[in-house]
Amino acid sequence: MLSEKINALRKAVDDFRPKAEKEIEEFRIRMLGKKGEMNILFDEFKKVSSEQKRELGQKINELKNRIQTRIEEYRASLANTESETESIDMTRPGTADRIGTRHPISLVRNEILDIFRRLGYTVAEGPEIEDDWHVFSALNFPPEHPARDMQDTFFIEKNPDILLRTHTSSIQVRTMETRQPPIRVVCPGRVFRNEAISYRAHCIFHQVEGLYVDENVSFADLKQSILYFAKEMFGEEAKIRLRPSYFPFTEPSAEVDVSCNLCGGKGCNVCKHTGWLEIMGCGMVDPNVLEACGIDSRKYTGFAFGMGIERISMLKYGVRDLRLYFENDLRFLRQFEAAF
Ligand code: DAH
Repeated sequence: MLSEKINALRKAVDDFRPKAEKEIEEFRIRMLGKKGEMNILFDEFKKVSSEQKRELGQKINELKNRIQTRIEEYRASLANTESETESIDMTRPGTADRIGTRHPISLVRNEILDIFRRLGYTVAEGPEIEDDWHVFSALNFPPEHPARDMQDTFFIEKNPDILLRTHTSSIQVRTMETRQPPIRVVCPGRVFRNEAISYRAHCIFHQVEGLYVDENVSFADLKQSILYFAKEMFGEEAKIRLRPSYFPFTEPSAEVDVSCNLCGGKGCNVCKHTGWLEIMGCGMVDPNVLEACGIDSRKYTGFAFGMGIERISMLKYGVRDLRLYFENDLRFLRQFEAAF
């Protein structure tokens, strides 16, 4: 008797197919509630003979567990289908993904390279980890020159011959070693100096080096090329002036100032009331450098120049603190969204 009732109930449980949460709850009360089917079975169970207790007890317990797991399973599957339909609400407004933007250093580097490409220059690159020859010796640095000092240069593993390049002039050397004139290259790259970080100095920054070597290259060619660059970068009104200077690898050497584009040359805080801003170093390639790289200095002359990309970018966009370029603060970077 009882055994048949148990079987019938198990079949009812197996056939149960709820369509909503409410039906599951009704099912639970009907089966497991106080006056539910299970309690009725338990009442009857009390009356069965002790020989049958063991077998029937097991069956009843199994059925009870079966009901409980079924209820849980149905609840879980209904919850899933509900959240699935909810997630495809075609009427909700979309969330737009913001596209990344180029870093201001990349923008200005590309702009510098493009200007010189229009003058017939090609782009050359070189390694960041260099040797003494390409960074100093071939560039006519005397052995005791202070730029080789531990204070300026990062050496690698205490080996004084292997170092992080302190300027991209090393690419000049590599280019001249492997090619004969005419040479016209611009060399972008990251450089490293052991300097304290401040608003105007960083231990990592970026440079573009330029080199032009051919027969009859003159200082006038240098001046005209830089004037063209300044006008393209800072606007048609830009003027330049050259001040005599010293670099081991150029003779004569000069530093280039551009008229302050913020005050138009009248004098302001940025140009320290001089009307001028320093933008690069330059000069005629020292014959010693040409010879060190295997180029005949009686036949060929050349000019070179080197500028810091951070500096050009600061002057062009009015950025007051060099550290901003390295902090990846989106509030700063987003301001260059429209630049290209
Ligand atoms: N290498 C120099 C520096 O790092 C910049 C420079 C100056 C490069 C004069 C040149 C040059 O090619 O002619 O400060």
